[in-house]
Amino acid sequence: MADRKPVKVTEEQLEEQRQFMREVRALPQRPRSYFVVTYGCQMNAHDSEILAGMLRDMGMEEAHDRENADFVLFNTCCVRDNAERRALGNVTWLKEVRKRNPNLVIGVCGCMIQQPGMAEKIMKQYRFVDLAFGTSNLYRLPELLCRTLNSDRAVVEVEDEDTIAEDLPVRRLRQDAAYITIMYGCDNFCSYCIVPYVRGRERSRDMDDILREAETLRNSGVKEIMLLGQNVNSYGKGLEGGATFAELLRRLDDMDIPRIRFMTSHPKDLSDELIDVMRGSRHILPQFHLPVQSGSDEILRQMNRRYTREQYLNRVRALRDAVPGIGLTTDIIVGFPGETEEQFQDTMSLVKEVGYDSAFTFIYSPRKGTRAAAMDGQINEAVATDRIQRLIALQDQCQKEAMARFLGQEEEVLVEGLSRRSDKAVSGKGRHGVSITLPGTEEDVGQIVRVRVNEIKNNTLMAERL
Ligand code: 5AD
Ligand code: SF4
Repeated sequence: MADRKPVKVTEEQLEEQRQFMREVRALPQRPRSYFVVTYGCQMNAHDSEILAGMLRDMGMEEAHDRENADFVLFNTCCVRDNAERRALGNVTWLKEVRKRNPNLVIGVCGCMIQQPGMAEKIMKQYRFVDLAFGTSNLYRLPELLCRTLNSDRAVVEVEDEDTIAEDLPVRRLRQDAAYITIMYGCDNFCSYCIVPYVRGRERSRDMDDILREAETLRNSGVKEIMLLGQNVNSYGKGLEGGATFAELLRRLDDMDIPRIRFMTSHPKDLSDELIDVMRGSRHILPQFHLPVQSGSDEILRQMNRRYTREQYLNRVRALRDAVPGIGLTTDIIVGFPGETEEQFQDTMSLVKEVGYDSAFTFIYSPRKGTRAAAMDGQINEAVATDRIQRLIALQDQCQKEAMARFLGQEEEVLVEGLSRRSDKAVSGKGRHGVSITLPGTEEDVGQIVRVRVNEIKNNTLMAERL
């Protein structure tokens, strides 16, 4: 792959986009309301917050649902086939809505569009789409929308540059918690994964820009920040002055933001320095998302993960030594090409050995253009389904056992909303990342509440207020 340099979007380019925002606002035919539909990971959720921020600055209000919006924008994911199919299914369904609202503008953006040939395919097969763009030119939404509204033809723009754009408007999903992207892209090329192809090469934001953003959020009363990146542990690579993720965390920890979390970490880049920072920190939460993907050395090698089962378990032990009771979560893929029953059993035994608080489990999905998609020994669906069911059942059991350590313990909950089961209860996440339900009302939302856990119900911790 050609050597690509990250491109920081200049102030002039941003000003140009602000000019387009003003132009859209002045157009009589502009949409009055928008709805952004998000698929995929937290990076996408945060991109959608930025898209919504720009749309509001163009004078649009958020619609209650997509049926009642003038502009519906699908921010897509392509990490697995089902994410892609779901997005395309929903885009097609919107064609019917347009029969009722002929002015409806339909846009599709994000990772799916960034795949080679996809934009052309969308334009041929989904002729009712008005606007399509990728991940690297997201900041150009005002310009692209302006062109769409002034033309009868669809506007399609996909760029191959690795951009970093600062100071874009954001419409946050939550007032008490906020995302901060610290790095973009990924250089790991795990053999099954499409992300490096659609999100580009790894590039880190300047530490000062991140600290400035964190400070603004703290001053506005945000209680929790979530640092985002495909591989946050390699933050700083390519930056002048040798910044590291551990250093960034140390600086943020000194800032008095009550809660700091981050994801995702790659086990091979989890340094002792980072573990040390976690040991001595005040605000970094005692939780760690550490995707293992498989418990078999041979499958890990085929996946190009660049660690062994033993090295992974060593990191888990180091984390637990440094932060006793730390909440551990993971991602696991079953049915990778060539995976034998014995190798699957290695994954099962690893899950038992670690005892995760939760695990995101996936059936391997071949992605065109990745190395694994061309490998021999693709596993049939029935075998993969059977494996994932056994894995989920085991994890469910392990989760129950892991939850037991909270019984009788004090915790702090950042309340997210009313409980789904009762209007006299609220729920949120404890410091370890586990969901906790407690007595409360709407007024508690966004507050940090001290509780004692006294029961476990369906893998949720039930607590009383202190
Ligand atoms: N098939 C199945 N799961 C995948 N993931 C990434 N690529 C694939 C794929 N092709 C999973 C990995 C990753 C998570 C975000 O998605 O477990 O950690
Ligand atoms: Fe994909 Fe691997 Fe990069 Fe994660 S680390 S985004 S799984 S290539």
